[in-house]
Amino acid sequence: MSDRYAVFGNPVAHSRSPDIHHAFAAQRREDLVYERIEAPRDGFAGAVATFFDGGGLGANVTVPFKEQAFDLCEVLSERARQAGAVNTLWRARGRLHGDNTDGPGLVTDLRVNQGWPLARRRVLILGAGGAVRGVLGPLLAEAPAALVIANRTVARARTLAARFADHQVTVTASSLHQLDGPFDLVVNAISAGLRGEMPALPDGLIGATTVAYDMVYGDRPTPFMAWADAQGAAAVRDGLGMLVEQAAEAYRVWRGWRPATAPVLAALRRPS
Ligand code: ATR
Repeated sequence: MSDRYAVFGNPVAHSRSPDIHHAFAAQRREDLVYERIEAPRDGFAGAVATFFDGGGLGANVTVPFKEQAFDLCEVLSERARQAGAVNTLWRARGRLHGDNTDGPGLVTDLRVNQGWPLARRRVLILGAGGAVRGVLGPLLAEAPAALVIANRTVARARTLAARFADHQVTVTASSLHQLDGPFDLVVNAISAGLRGEMPALPDGLIGATTVAYDMVYGDRPTPFMAWADAQGAAAVRDGLGMLVEQAAEAYRVWRGWRPATAPVLAALRRPS
Protein backbone atom coordinates (compact mmCIF):
# COMPACT_ATOMS: atom_id res chain seq x y z
CA MET A 1 0.00 0.00 0.00
CA SER A 2 1.15 3.56 -0.72
CA ASP A 3 2.38 5.78 2.10
CA ARG A 4 -0.44 8.16 2.99
CA TYR A 5 -0.21 11.89 3.61
CA ALA A 6 -2.76 14.70 3.58
CA VAL A 7 -3.38 18.40 4.00
CA PHE A 8 -6.14 19.47 6.39
CA GLY A 9 -7.90 22.78 5.80
CA ASN A 10 -11.29 24.40 5.37
CA PRO A 11 -11.64 25.22 2.55
CA VAL A 12 -8.92 23.06 1.05
CA ALA A 13 -10.09 22.32 -2.51
CA HIS A 14 -7.72 24.97 -3.91
CA SER A 15 -4.62 23.56 -2.18
CA ARG A 16 -1.68 22.80 -4.46
CA SER A 17 0.06 20.71 -1.82
CA PRO A 18 -0.92 17.32 -3.37
CA ASP A 19 0.70 18.30 -6.71
CA ILE A 20 3.82 19.48 -4.91
CA HIS A 21 4.26 16.38 -2.74
CA HIS A 22 3.54 14.00 -5.62
CA ALA A 23 6.22 15.80 -7.65
CA PHE A 24 8.68 15.47 -4.73
CA ALA A 25 7.94 11.74 -4.41
CA ALA A 26 8.49 11.25 -8.15
CA GLN A 27 12.07 12.52 -7.79
CA ARG A 28 12.97 9.24 -6.05
CA ARG A 29 10.07 7.12 -7.34
CA GLU A 30 8.59 6.92 -3.85
CA ASP A 31 5.11 5.44 -3.62
CA LEU A 32 3.06 8.07 -1.88
CA VAL A 33 -0.52 9.32 -1.93
CA TYR A 34 -1.20 12.83 -0.64
CA GLU A 35 -4.85 13.91 -0.38
CA ARG A 36 -6.85 16.98 0.60
CA ILE A 37 -9.08 16.58 3.67
CA GLU A 38 -11.67 19.25 4.41
CA ALA A 39 -12.23 18.91 8.15
CA PRO A 40 -15.35 20.46 9.68
CA ARG A 41 -14.44 23.67 11.49
CA ASP A 42 -15.44 22.08 14.80
CA GLY A 43 -14.13 18.63 13.93
CA PHE A 44 -10.41 19.03 13.29
CA ALA A 45 -9.17 16.86 16.19
CA GLY A 46 -11.45 13.98 15.21
CA ALA A 47 -10.43 14.16 11.55
CA VAL A 48 -6.73 14.08 12.48
CA ALA A 49 -7.20 11.11 14.82
CA THR A 50 -9.13 9.19 12.14
CA PHE A 51 -6.39 9.87 9.60
CA PHE A 52 -3.53 8.66 11.79
CA ASP A 53 -5.52 5.71 13.23
CA GLY A 54 -6.11 4.68 9.61
CA GLY A 55 -2.39 4.50 8.92
CA GLY A 56 -1.66 8.05 7.72
CA LEU A 57 2.04 8.88 8.07
CA GLY A 58 2.02 12.67 8.02
CA ALA A 59 -0.16 15.70 7.44
CA ASN A 60 0.09 19.36 6.65
CA VAL A 61 -2.28 21.84 8.23
CA THR A 62 -3.54 25.03 6.66
CA VAL A 63 -6.09 27.75 7.43
CA PRO A 64 -7.91 27.77 9.83
CA PHE A 65 -6.43 24.87 11.83
CA LYS A 66 -2.77 25.73 12.55
CA GLU A 67 -3.43 26.94 16.10
CA GLN A 68 -5.69 23.96 16.86
CA ALA A 69 -2.97 21.66 15.55
CA PHE A 70 -0.53 23.33 17.94
CA ASP A 71 -2.89 22.66 20.87
CA LEU A 72 -3.34 19.01 19.87
CA CYS A 73 0.33 18.07 19.66
CA GLU A 74 2.00 16.21 22.49
CA VAL A 75 5.52 16.94 21.18
CA LEU A 76 6.46 20.27 19.56
CA SER A 77 9.58 21.40 17.72
CA GLU A 78 11.25 24.57 18.90
CA ARG A 79 10.12 26.47 15.81
CA ALA A 80 6.50 25.31 16.30
CA ARG A 81 6.62 26.48 19.90
CA GLN A 82 7.98 29.85 18.78
CA ALA A 83 5.32 30.20 16.08
CA GLY A 84 2.45 29.13 18.33
CA ALA A 85 1.17 27.21 15.31
CA VAL A 86 1.77 23.88 13.59
CA ASN A 87 1.66 23.14 9.86
CA THR A 88 3.33 19.70 9.86
CA LEU A 89 2.08 16.68 11.85
CA TRP A 90 3.19 13.09 12.32
CA ARG A 91 2.75 10.38 14.91
CA ALA A 92 5.63 8.59 16.58
CA ARG A 93 5.23 5.92 19.28
CA GLY A 94 1.58 6.87 19.55
CA ARG A 95 2.25 10.54 20.20
CA LEU A 96 1.30 13.40 17.90
CA HIS A 97 4.29 15.54 16.89
CA GLY A 98 4.14 19.05 15.42
CA ASP A 99 6.54 21.27 13.54
CA ASN A 100 6.21 24.55 11.68
CA THR A 101 7.98 24.87 8.34
CA ASP A 102 6.35 28.13 7.19
CA GLY A 103 9.12 30.38 8.49
CA PRO A 104 11.97 28.30 7.03
CA GLY A 105 9.96 28.12 3.78
CA LEU A 106 9.66 31.89 3.58
CA VAL A 107 13.31 32.50 4.45
CA THR A 108 14.55 29.92 1.92
CA ASP A 109 12.39 31.41 -0.82
CA LEU A 110 13.60 34.94 -0.05
CA ARG A 111 17.27 34.14 0.37
CA VAL A 112 17.88 31.26 -2.04
CA ASN A 113 15.21 31.47 -4.75
CA GLN A 114 14.89 35.25 -4.96
CA GLY A 115 18.45 36.04 -3.93
CA TRP A 116 17.26 38.50 -1.30
CA PRO A 117 19.36 38.11 1.85
CA LEU A 118 17.80 39.55 5.00
CA ALA A 119 20.95 40.28 6.97
CA ARG A 120 21.35 43.98 7.74
CA ARG A 121 18.24 44.86 5.71
CA ARG A 122 15.37 47.06 6.91
CA VAL A 123 12.28 44.88 6.77
CA LEU A 124 8.62 45.92 6.94
CA ILE A 125 5.93 43.32 7.60
CA LEU A 126 2.33 44.28 6.87
CA GLY A 127 -0.11 42.44 9.14
CA ALA A 128 0.11 40.93 12.61
CA GLY A 129 -2.03 37.81 12.42
CA GLY A 130 -1.23 34.13 12.65
CA ALA A 131 0.70 34.15 9.38
CA VAL A 132 3.13 36.74 10.74
CA ARG A 133 3.58 35.09 14.13
CA GLY A 134 4.37 31.87 12.28
CA VAL A 135 7.36 33.32 10.42
CA LEU A 136 8.80 35.97 12.74
CA GLY A 137 11.29 33.72 14.55
CA PRO A 138 13.03 32.45 11.39
CA LEU A 139 12.96 35.97 9.85
CA LEU A 140 14.64 37.47 12.91
CA ALA A 141 17.22 34.67 12.98
CA GLU A 142 18.49 36.07 9.65
CA ALA A 143 19.57 39.21 11.54
CA PRO A 144 17.93 42.05 9.63
CA ALA A 145 18.99 45.58 10.68
CA ALA A 146 15.44 46.31 11.85
CA LEU A 147 12.01 44.80 11.56
CA VAL A 148 8.81 46.85 11.69
CA ILE A 149 5.44 45.14 12.13
CA ALA A 150 2.66 47.40 10.84
CA ASN A 151 -0.97 46.51 11.41
CA ARG A 152 -4.44 48.07 11.26
CA THR A 153 -4.92 47.06 14.90
CA VAL A 154 -1.68 48.38 16.39
CA ALA A 155 -2.19 46.50 19.66
CA ARG A 156 -1.75 43.19 17.83
CA ALA A 157 1.50 44.41 16.28
CA ARG A 158 2.69 45.51 19.74
CA THR A 159 1.90 42.11 21.22
CA LEU A 160 3.98 40.40 18.53
CA ALA A 161 6.85 42.88 18.84
CA ALA A 162 6.93 42.26 22.60
CA ARG A 163 6.75 38.50 22.20
CA PHE A 164 9.78 38.46 19.90
CA ALA A 165 11.66 41.26 21.67
CA ASP A 166 14.40 39.12 23.15
CA HIS A 167 16.14 38.69 19.81
CA GLN A 168 19.16 40.69 18.67
CA VAL A 169 17.10 42.74 16.24
CA THR A 170 15.06 45.86 17.00
CA VAL A 171 11.44 44.91 16.45
CA THR A 172 8.94 47.75 16.47
CA ALA A 173 5.17 48.00 16.07
CA SER A 174 3.38 50.58 13.98
CA SER A 175 0.08 51.56 12.46
CA LEU A 176 -0.36 51.24 8.71
CA HIS A 177 0.02 55.00 8.10
CA GLN A 178 2.79 56.29 10.37
CA LEU A 179 5.62 54.47 8.68
CA ASP A 180 9.09 55.76 8.02
CA GLY A 181 10.30 54.33 4.70
CA PRO A 182 11.81 53.37 2.47
CA PHE A 183 12.45 49.74 3.43
CA ASP A 184 14.74 47.22 1.74
CA LEU A 185 12.09 44.50 1.86
CA VAL A 186 8.32 44.75 2.34
CA VAL A 187 6.48 41.50 3.12
CA ASN A 188 2.68 41.47 2.95
CA ALA A 189 0.69 39.23 5.29
CA ILE A 190 -2.58 41.16 5.36
CA SER A 191 -5.10 38.50 4.53
CA ALA A 192 -7.52 40.98 2.94
CA GLY A 193 -5.24 40.65 -0.09
CA LEU A 194 -6.72 37.24 -0.75
CA ARG A 195 -10.13 38.74 -1.36
CA GLY A 196 -8.80 41.34 -3.72
CA GLU A 197 -8.69 44.41 -1.46
CA MET A 198 -5.73 46.17 0.09
CA PRO A 199 -5.80 48.90 2.72
CA ALA A 200 -4.43 52.30 1.74
CA LEU A 201 -0.71 52.56 2.45
CA PRO A 202 1.40 55.70 2.57
CA ASP A 203 3.79 56.68 -0.21
CA GLY A 204 7.51 56.43 0.54
CA LEU A 205 7.63 52.82 1.75
CA ILE A 206 9.04 51.63 -1.55
CA GLY A 207 12.31 53.03 -2.90
CA ALA A 208 14.17 52.24 -6.12
CA THR A 209 15.93 49.23 -4.56
CA THR A 210 13.03 47.94 -2.44
CA VAL A 211 11.83 44.41 -3.10
CA ALA A 212 8.28 43.35 -2.25
CA TYR A 213 6.87 39.94 -1.37
CA ASP A 214 3.30 38.77 -0.88
CA MET A 215 2.95 35.66 1.29
CA VAL A 216 -0.11 34.60 -0.71
CA TYR A 217 -0.24 33.58 -4.34
CA GLY A 218 -2.86 33.43 -7.02
CA ASP A 219 -3.34 33.16 -10.74
CA ARG A 220 -2.88 36.89 -11.07
CA PRO A 221 -0.68 39.42 -9.24
CA THR A 222 -2.28 40.26 -5.91
CA PRO A 223 -3.48 43.80 -5.09
CA PHE A 224 -0.39 44.23 -2.89
CA MET A 225 1.87 43.23 -5.78
CA ALA A 226 0.11 45.67 -8.11
CA TRP A 227 0.52 48.41 -5.49
CA ALA A 228 4.24 47.68 -4.96
CA ASP A 229 4.81 47.63 -8.69
CA ALA A 230 3.04 50.97 -9.15
CA GLN A 231 5.20 52.40 -6.33
CA GLY A 232 8.32 51.48 -8.32
CA ALA A 233 9.60 48.39 -6.47
CA ALA A 234 12.75 46.83 -7.93
CA ALA A 235 11.11 43.40 -7.85
CA VAL A 236 7.77 41.96 -6.74
CA ARG A 237 7.06 38.28 -5.98
CA ASP A 238 4.17 36.15 -4.76
CA GLY A 239 4.27 33.39 -2.14
CA LEU A 240 4.28 30.33 -4.37
CA GLY A 241 7.96 29.73 -3.66
CA MET A 242 7.27 29.84 0.08
CA LEU A 243 4.57 27.21 -0.40
CA VAL A 244 6.95 24.89 -2.24
CA GLU A 245 9.80 25.46 0.25
CA GLN A 246 7.64 24.84 3.33
CA ALA A 247 6.44 21.64 1.63
CA ALA A 248 10.01 20.49 0.95
CA GLU A 249 10.93 21.08 4.58
CA ALA A 250 7.87 19.09 5.73
CA TYR A 251 8.84 16.30 3.33
CA ARG A 252 12.32 16.24 4.83
CA VAL A 253 10.90 16.06 8.36
CA TRP A 254 8.69 13.10 7.39
CA ARG A 255 10.96 11.18 5.05
CA GLY A 256 14.51 12.22 5.79
CA TRP A 257 15.60 13.81 2.51
CA ARG A 258 14.91 17.23 1.03
CA PRO A 259 13.45 17.23 -2.49
CA ALA A 260 14.68 19.64 -5.17
CA THR A 261 12.28 22.57 -5.28
CA ALA A 262 13.29 24.49 -8.44
CA PRO A 263 11.78 22.07 -10.99
CA VAL A 264 8.57 21.78 -8.97
CA LEU A 265 8.21 25.55 -8.71
CA ALA A 266 8.86 25.93 -12.43
CA ALA A 267 6.20 23.32 -13.24
CA LEU A 268 3.64 25.06 -11.01
CA ARG A 269 4.32 28.38 -12.74
CA ARG A 270 3.86 26.88 -16.20
CA PRO A 271 0.37 27.58 -17.51
CA SER A 272 -1.65 24.35 -17.54
P1 ATR B 1 -3.62 35.19 8.98
O1 ATR B 1 -3.53 33.78 9.46
O2 ATR B 1 -3.76 35.32 7.48
O3 ATR B 1 -2.54 36.04 9.51
P2 ATR B 1 -5.40 36.57 10.78
O4 ATR B 1 -4.71 36.04 11.98
O5 ATR B 1 -6.89 36.65 10.76
O6 ATR B 1 -5.04 35.71 9.49
O7 ATR B 1 -4.77 37.99 10.42
C1 ATR B 1 -5.25 38.78 9.37
C2 ATR B 1 -4.36 39.99 9.18
O8 ATR B 1 -4.84 40.75 8.07
C3 ATR B 1 -4.36 40.92 10.37
O9 ATR B 1 -3.11 41.58 10.40
C4 ATR B 1 -5.49 41.88 9.99
O10 ATR B 1 -5.42 43.14 10.64
P3 ATR B 1 -6.13 43.33 12.09
O11 ATR B 1 -5.21 42.66 13.08
O12 ATR B 1 -6.19 44.80 12.27
O13 ATR B 1 -7.47 42.66 11.99
C5 ATR B 1 -5.22 42.05 8.53
N1 ATR B 1 -6.39 42.53 7.79
C6 ATR B 1 -7.44 41.79 7.36
N2 ATR B 1 -8.32 42.55 6.68
C7 ATR B 1 -7.79 43.82 6.65
C8 ATR B 1 -8.20 45.06 6.07
N3 ATR B 1 -9.34 45.17 5.36
N4 ATR B 1 -7.40 46.15 6.27
C9 ATR B 1 -6.26 46.05 6.96
N5 ATR B 1 -5.80 44.89 7.51
C10 ATR B 1 -6.56 43.79 7.36
